[in-house]
Amino acid sequence: MTIHFIGAGPGAPDLITLRGRDLIAACPVCLYAGSLVPPALLDHCPAGARIINTAPLTLDEIIAEMSRAHTAGQDVARLHSGDLSVWSAMGEQLRRLRALDIPFDVTPGVPSFAAAAAVLQSELTLPGLAQSVVLTRTSGRASQMPDGETLQNFARTGATLAIHLSIHALPDVAEELIPFYGADCPAAVVWRASWPDQKIIRARLADIATQAEGIDRTALILVGPALAGQDFDDSRLYAADYDRRYRPIGPEPRFPE
Ligand SMILES: C[S@@+](CC[C@H](N)C(=O)[O-])C[C@H]1O[C@@H](n2cnc3c(N)ncnc32)[C@H](O)[C@@H]1O
Repeated sequence: MTIHFIGAGPGAPDLITLRGRDLIAACPVCLYAGSLVPPALLDHCPAGARIINTAPLTLDEIIAEMSRAHTAGQDVARLHSGDLSVWSAMGEQLRRLRALDIPFDVTPGVPSFAAAAAVLQSELTLPGLAQSVVLTRTSGRASQMPDGETLQNFARTGATLAIHLSIHALPDVAEELIPFYGADCPAAVVWRASWPDQKIIRARLADIATQAEGIDRTALILVGPALAGQDFDDSRLYAADYDRRYRPIGPEPRFPE
């Protein structure tokens, strides 16, 4: 038996991989992080599956459920929102499972920053404006930021910022960023991207906190010049005079067939 960690996506039940959906359908036990995982995904569980919301459980209790299934020879679908590579609490579960010699695998999901970019119809890396995206957060009650991972340090790069778990601190976030990006820099807040009730707020960095007042919990803050989607160069990739392996040009192409 195996514990299958599955990225459940940002909210819309059809934003899960086929592999993730099929694993859910094949597992007699499903543990899901009930605070963010869309309940409709549980419809994929087989009839009679043991379905457990882990939101009220401790880590010890979650591992106990996994050990119980392992002893009974049952596969487990373990669902976390978005993708598992960021802020999923998967790391601590994997550490316990390794110590207990319980097998597991990991299936990626659509992360919320990608869902928010899709909702905004934005490419976050536009030529000449930004070529990096920083996925970050601010300190919370349960998690302090490591030294050096400050908003100012990331802002110094001018990259597009996707700030998670921080909507409650939006006025402070904007104030910290304005000296680096400028008051007119485009910013956006996307609340519950891909859910039926999603909300999008676009504003100048100086106005975003006022415009997004009242928005709380499941929201992303995006900041950076790429959000404007204007005044950037075309990529060289599709330029007519750009000699490339898939479109050799000229009498002496760099990548002859
Ligand atoms: C615990 S983290 C989970 C991140 C998740 N693993 C991912 O891949 O995006 C929760 C935070 O992600 C962001 N988030 C998750 N789902 C979202 C959504 N549908 N729309 C906007 N932000 C979302 C919010 O900033 C929220 O506070």
